[in-house]
Amino acid sequence: MSLLAGRTAVVTGGGGGIGRAISERFAAESAHVVIAEIDADCAHETVERITANGGSARAVVADVTDAAAVAALAEVAGDVDVLVNNVGHYLTRGNDFLANGPDAWDELYATNLRHVFHCTRAFVDGMIARGQGSVVNVSSVEGFRAIPNRPVYSAFKAAVTGFTRSLAVDLGNSGVRVNAIAPDLVESLQVPYSKWVAPEDADRIPSWVPVGRFGTADDIAGVALFLASDLSAFVTGTTIHADGGSLAAGGWFRRPDDTWTNRPTLS
Ligand SMILES: NC(=O)c1ccc[n+]([C@@H]2O[C@H](COP(=O)([O-])OP(=O)(O)OC[C@H]3O[C@@H](n4cnc5c(N)ncnc54)[C@H](O)[C@@H]3O)[C@@H](O)[C@H]2O)c1
Repeated sequence: MSLLAGRTAVVTGGGGGIGRAISERFAAESAHVVIAEIDADCAHETVERITANGGSARAVVADVTDAAAVAALAEVAGDVDVLVNNVGHYLTRGNDFLANGPDAWDELYATNLRHVFHCTRAFVDGMIARGQGSVVNVSSVEGFRAIPNRPVYSAFKAAVTGFTRSLAVDLGNSGVRVNAIAPDLVESLQVPYSKWVAPEDADRIPSWVPVGRFGTADDIAGVALFLASDLSAFVTGTTIHADGGSLAAGGWFRRPDDTWTNRPTLS
C-alpha cells in the first residue's frame, strides 16, 4: 500500500530544489500533489515529470508571500491532507544587519515566515474538520546555530521552529500534526554546491560534513514523506535535523587522517 494513497498534498515552492523532490516523492507514494510555485516553468516541468511517471499533480502558479494568492491556492486545492511549507531563502541582499533596516527585514519575514502563517491558516481548518492532517515546515540548521552575516534570516528560521512546536501542542488532539525539517548542505537551486566547490577541493567534503557528502533534495524528501505519512503518527511538535550531522558536529571537523579538530588550520 502506498504511504500517501488518497491524500492531497500542497507543496509550496514545489517546482524546484527540495520542493520538487518532495513533490515527486509524494506523488510516487500515490498522493495528488498541488505544486504552489512562483516559477511557472519549474512548476509545469515538475508536473510533467510526475505525470510521466504515472503520478498525479497540478501546478498552481502562485507567490505564497501574497496573501491573496494563498487564498486563491486554497480555493483550487480542495481538501488538503498534507501541507509542506517549503519556501524560504536567505536572499542575496539585505542580510548585513548593520547596513540594512526594516525594508530588508520585511522581505526576509515575508519569504521565510509570514507565508508559513498564511498557508497554514488557509489549510489547517479543513484538516481539523476532517480530523486528520500533517503540516511540515522547512526550517534550517541556521535556526539552531549561527549563520554569520544573516542574523535576520536565522531569526525567522528559529521562529518557524517555535511556531511548529506551539501549534503542534494547540492542535494535538485534533488529528493534525505539525513538524519541521532543518536541512543543511543540500544541493538545490538556491545552494548549488556542485558549482561552488572547486574540483580541487572536492576531496575535502568529508572534512566538512560528518556523513562525508553533501545532501540531496531526495534526502530531505524522504524525511518529508515520513512526517507526512502515518509512519510518524505519534510525532508532533518536533524538528528533524536532516543535515548530515553538521549540527551535531557543532564546529568539529574530521581531518584527512581521521582525527578531529575544532580549530581548522591550513596545515
Ligand atoms: N538547500 C539547503 O541546503 C537548505 C539548507 C537549509 C534550509 N533550506 C530550506 O529549504 C527550503 C527549500 O530550499 P531550496 O534550497 O530547495 O531552495 P530553492 O531556491 O532551490 O527552491 C525553492 C523553490 O521555491 C520557489 N519559490 C521561491 N519563492 C517562492 C514564492 N514566493 N512562492 C512560491 N514559490 C517560490 C522557487 O521558484 C523554487 O522552485 C527553504 O525553506 C530553505 O530555507 C535549504
